[in-house]
Formats: sequence, C-alpha cells, structure tokens
Amino acid sequence: MAKILVTGGAGYIGSHTCLELLNTGHDVVVLDNLSNSSVESLNRVQQLAQKSLKFVEGDIRDSQILDRIFQENTIDAVIHFAGLKAVGESQQIPLAYFDNNIAGSISLVQAMERAQVFKLVFSSSATVYDEANISPLNEEMPTGMPSNNYGYTKLIVEQILEKLAIADTRWSIALLRYFNPVGAHKSGQIGEDPRGIPNNLMPYVTQVAVGRREKLSIFGNDYNTVDGTGVRDYIHVVDLANAHLCALNNRLTSQGCRAWNIGTGNGSSVLQVKNTFEQVNGINIAFEFVSRREGDVATSFADNKRAIEELGWAPQYGLEDMLADSWKWQKQNPHGYG
Ligand code: NAD
Ligand code: UFG
Repeated sequence: MAKILVTGGAGYIGSHTCLELLNTGHDVVVLDNLSNSSVESLNRVQQLAQKSLKFVEGDIRDSQILDRIFQENTIDAVIHFAGLKAVGESQQIPLAYFDNNIAGSISLVQAMERAQVFKLVFSSSATVYDEANISPLNEEMPTGMPSNNYGYTKLIVEQILEKLAIADTRWSIALLRYFNPVGAHKSGQIGEDPRGIPNNLMPYVTQVAVGRREKLSIFGNDYNTVDGTGVRDYIHVVDLANAHLCALNNRLTSQGCRAWNIGTGNGSSVLQVKNTFEQVNGINIAFEFVSRREGDVATSFADNKRAIEELGWAPQYGLEDMLADSWKWQKQNPHGYG
C-alpha cells in the first residue's frame, strides 16, 4: 500500500477520494487551506473509514509547507485536487485563479521534483475540449480555448504537465477529465457543500428541495437537445473517487502523461435531472425557465472507453443513485457541514 498526498482533500471530490483511499488500505496526508471546505469533512471521512489520516492546513503555493510534508512523510504519489473552481468568479478575479490553479500547480510539481516524487494524478475537466467537438467527446479530440478563466487554468496546467513529462521521463502523470460530478457517499455523511449560492445544477436542486432556495432557474429551453435544456454527463462522486485509485495504480507502473475522460458516457438534460429527482425522492422542485447562461454548451458527454480499457475502471452508479444520494446528504445536512 502507498502513502498518498492529497491536495484539496477536504473538498467535495477530495474527501470522497480520501475515504476510498483509506478503505483500500492506503495512508493519506491531506494538504488543504480550507478556502472552500471544512475540516469536518475529514473528521467524517475518518469516522466512516475507522482509520485516521494526517491533515496539514496550508497552501499549495507555500513551498516550505510542501517541503516539510515531503520530508516528514515518505510520499509515493500525489493526487492534486486543490484549486478554485467557480466559473463566474474566475471571470471577476482571474488573477486569483491563475495564482491558485496555475502557480499553485507549478509550486506543487516543483516540490515533488525536489522530493523526487514523480507520480501525479491531476483534476482536469471536460471543459478543456474545443467546443466545436461533437459529443461523445474522446481524448483524441482537440482541446480548445475554454470560454472562461477557470477552464483556461485547467488547459494550461494540462499543457504544463504534458511538457514536463516529455522533458523528464521520470514523471508519470494522469490527467483526469471529469464530466459533471454529483451525488454523495451512501452514508449521507459527506457530500457537496458549496459556499453561497450554488453555481452548479445539483446543489441548487437539493437546496430547493430542502427549502433553502425558492426555485430552480433552468438556463435555456431552446437548445437543440431532447427537450431544449442542456445535456451533461453526470458522474457519481464515488465512481469518480474510484477512478483516482485506478489512475494511481496505472501510474505506479507507467511513465509519461496521459488523459482519461471520467464520465458515464450518458447524457441527461436538465429537465430529465429535475424530473428524475422528483420521482426518486418524492419531492417537487419548483422551477422556471430563464435565458441561457453565457458560456454554456448545449450538449457534453464522454466517450469513456479509454478509462474502461486502460484503467480497469467502470462507473457503477446511474442517475437515480446519484440523485438519491445527493438528496440523502442534503436532507441529513441541510446546512452542509454547518
Ligand atoms: P472543492 O472546492 O470542494 O475542493 C477543492 C479543495 O481545494 C477545497 O477543499 C479548497 O479548500 C482547497 N484549495 C483551494 N485552493 C487551495 C490552495 N491554494 N491550497 C490548498 N488548498 C486549496 O472542489 P471539488 O469539486 O472537490 O473539485 C476538486 C478539483 O476537481 C478542483 O481542481 C476542480 O477544479 C476539479 N473539477 C471539479 C469539477 C466539479 O464540477 N466539481 C469538475 C471538473 C474538475
Ligand atoms: N443549470 C441550470 N440551472 C442552474 C445551474 C445549472 O439550468 O442553476 C444547467 C446548466 O445550464 C447546464 C447544466 O445545468 O446545462 C449543468 O450545469 P452545471 O453548472 O452543473 O455544470 P456545467 O456543465 O456548466 O459545469 C461543468 C463543471 C465545471 C466546468 C464547466 C465548464 O462543473 O467545473 O462544466 O463549462 F468548468
């Protein structure tokens, strides 16, 4: 079993991944500055796993903290979630995004190089694909210039890591291009806890269901899709967490830098999500149609064959599970981690 440094491990996807790592016998060190999370998520991860992890509160841009972590722990590999992720905010404060996401990632790989740790799994996004590509999106398709600064940081970091692995063959890097992570651990003890008004569909729906928001605004009903609303590939966060373990195993025995899509391969429209949520959970979701959101594409879903064939990964959960688990988490924790 390996010792893994998880940056951003207190966050939504990071906490679910820490739990799967502990459950499979790995040792975990988390570095998180708690800028968008609560340490309570890690308390619950440890309770669920009945095992402890090491938590360091700090920033990936702080090279002294990174050096100390690598000196005090024999780290085998790094899973790098830390970063800012709000698309709208990235248009307002681009420098914060360039600094946290791009400079932060450079700071991390520099520290890894100093420590001679060359295995890395990076949180990328389907947003790196050129918008002209037609779904299902596969990894051979061209990347493009993302419509927002957040997406731009993911593309730049992917390119930096690709160039790094070409220049120095000791590196072994997985770029995981997530589609739309939703859902929560079956226990309902850990889940997504966005600060302020949610940007993403699923937490908005669950906050309407729990009475924190009046109604869902559906951004556009005139897209060229099954019912006019936007189509996305929703992936259960536990399936996504497990993809990191599969990528880690793959990277422990390979070199170079390679991208994998992590999605189910199925697209669901906003109305399908809303209606299925209502059916599965027996709750009505008030909604209204409003105009399209700037930067949104009509349809995005994955071709996930490469991950299935090369990583030995496969999604286990469907949309109904995702919606039931999202609701269980929100119902048990109406105000998130509080
Ligand atoms: P999250 O905000 O819940 O988790 C990110 C964590 O990183 C938080 O705990 C935050 O406190 C921490 N962090 C931020 N900047 C940091 C810094 N400079 N130093 C140390 N810690 C820092 O987000 P998430 O949904 O779990 O996303 C994890 C990763 O996956 C991010 O890189 C995100 O961009 C990427 N991603 C997310 C989605 C999504 O829809 N959730 C989709 C594609 C990619
Ligand atoms: N939507 C609504 N109402 C809402 C929120 C979302 O109708 O209140 C719709 C969107 O228009 C879209 C779908 O629900 O059709 C999904 O929207 P999300 O915001 O949940 O997800 P996105 O596909 O827009 O976002 C994803 C990732 C981001 C990434 C972005 C790039 O979550 O990390 O793709 O476009 F940057």
